[in-house]
Amino acid sequence: MSEQPRQPRRKPAPAGAGGKQAKPYRRPQKDPVRMLAFEVLRAVDERDAYANLVLPPLLKKARQDEKFEARDAALATELVYGTLRRQGTYDAVIKACIDRPLREVDPPVLDVLSLGAHQLLGTRIPTHAAVSASVELARVVLGDGRAKFVNAVLRKIAAHDLDGWLERVAPPYEDDAEEHLAVYHSHPTWVVSALWDALGGGRAGIEDLLEADNERPEVTLVARPGRSTPEELLEAVGEESALPGRWSPYAVRMAEGGEPGALEAVRDGRAGVQDEGSQLVAMALAAVPIEGRDERWLDGCAGPGGKAALLAALAAQRGAFLLASEKQPHRARLVERSLAGNPGPYQVIAADGTRPAWLPDSFDRVLMDVPCSGLGALRRRPEARWRRRPEDLEGFSPLQRGLLREALSAVRVGGVVGYATCSPHLAETRVVVEDVLKGRGAGHSPVSAELIDARPFMQGVPALGDGPDVQLWPHLHGTDAMYLALLRRTA
Ligand SMILES: C[S@@+](CC[C@H](N)C(=O)[O-])C[C@H]1O[C@@H](n2cnc3c(N)ncnc32)[C@H](O)[C@@H]1O
Repeated sequence: MSEQPRQPRRKPAPAGAGGKQAKPYRRPQKDPVRMLAFEVLRAVDERDAYANLVLPPLLKKARQDEKFEARDAALATELVYGTLRRQGTYDAVIKACIDRPLREVDPPVLDVLSLGAHQLLGTRIPTHAAVSASVELARVVLGDGRAKFVNAVLRKIAAHDLDGWLERVAPPYEDDAEEHLAVYHSHPTWVVSALWDALGGGRAGIEDLLEADNERPEVTLVARPGRSTPEELLEAVGEESALPGRWSPYAVRMAEGGEPGALEAVRDGRAGVQDEGSQLVAMALAAVPIEGRDERWLDGCAGPGGKAALLAALAAQRGAFLLASEKQPHRARLVERSLAGNPGPYQVIAADGTRPAWLPDSFDRVLMDVPCSGLGALRRRPEARWRRRPEDLEGFSPLQRGLLREALSAVRVGGVVGYATCSPHLAETRVVVEDVLKGRGAGHSPVSAELIDARPFMQGVPALGDGPDVQLWPHLHGTDAMYLALLRRTA
């Protein structure tokens, strides 16, 4: 018996005689916005790339090739950032719509599903458009077979809105508060737990914080004192879209977004992009009164140079010298760039802050803005929360302690040290400071230093807690969650 030849896919089946007419083959439509968003998600997934580094050059190229208009770029950005931020919630929804564990779904398929879930549950794109655009994308990047799977899953997802899904996939708050918040606000459960420990208080505060992590932060500029002014930046950005800082007299907020690199003062290095929390940390260290000499300042973890540039500008106003030290040579070069043109004396070196290249007792003010988990800047890196692991903290722990000890040895008696992190995790903040002061850990003895109340040096900033250290919060201050402890060397 001979095999029937397969019906060629493009040839329509003969009509009539009750036979079902096969659909003619149609080429999938390439939608440049979804294709670009998918490309970024793949890079994040496959190469551990950072979306905020991969996306801008792709958008620029799409504009140059005339594939994109401004609103296409805005949509692609929203699709990428929204999908990555809400990945935890979307994973829970997708899991409920398939009959195998998520880890058994091919990562590119999962990326198409997440992009589709975001369009359905997190944007105002109409349901039919969200499904059909996702299925077209799947046909292009995955092939027709897997596009059918995508279609089936997205149709299930489209059966409910976001609230409807959250009620179905998150455990009730009363049963498991942290897991509930993790699914509702799309954070890993251990991160919810750590943030809540640091923040304290009840449900409302932690919910506000987690939601603030899901907002895109405003771009904030710093007018480096003596080199630029907020007035210059306000005028350059344009009155209609620029706002003065909330707390820092040097800050200007680009409320409508925009390209900071287009501003002359930023290109010249007289101004820079810097979160107000970072500005407050540098300003507070500079504001603490000290008796006697105030001529030699050290930034011991300076790369890429944001705080160093503000400190150097403040030091220049008082005729003080800043040594900016950074372990990684390539980051030390970024510090060079950031300090170029500073009106006062400074030097940049590449050195390990735990094996100092300077003499003990030789500085009047020292900043140690130590490497940390970055849990305070989750707004900026949408994928960061999914990459971090609790065990990363163990890796930072000895380094953070070592750097603080060296800072306290580098500063002279009566001088002041600022210990800063861009993480509110207690294991990276208070616990480090307490351990070092008390000499905890094999081979260490108590350090002769005392904590200074940092709150008066952030004048006008509300909700700074009980002191003496300070923790800033995105939902309360509109800043990254920067931590600062100020310590005075006593003997
Ligand atoms: C949180 S970042 C500092 C940010 C910087 N203060 C700013 O405002 O731009 C920490 C820096 O410490 C550097 N670092 C890591 N280990 C170090 C070490 N042992 N000594 C000195 N710097 C180190 C990292 O390369 C990183 O650039």
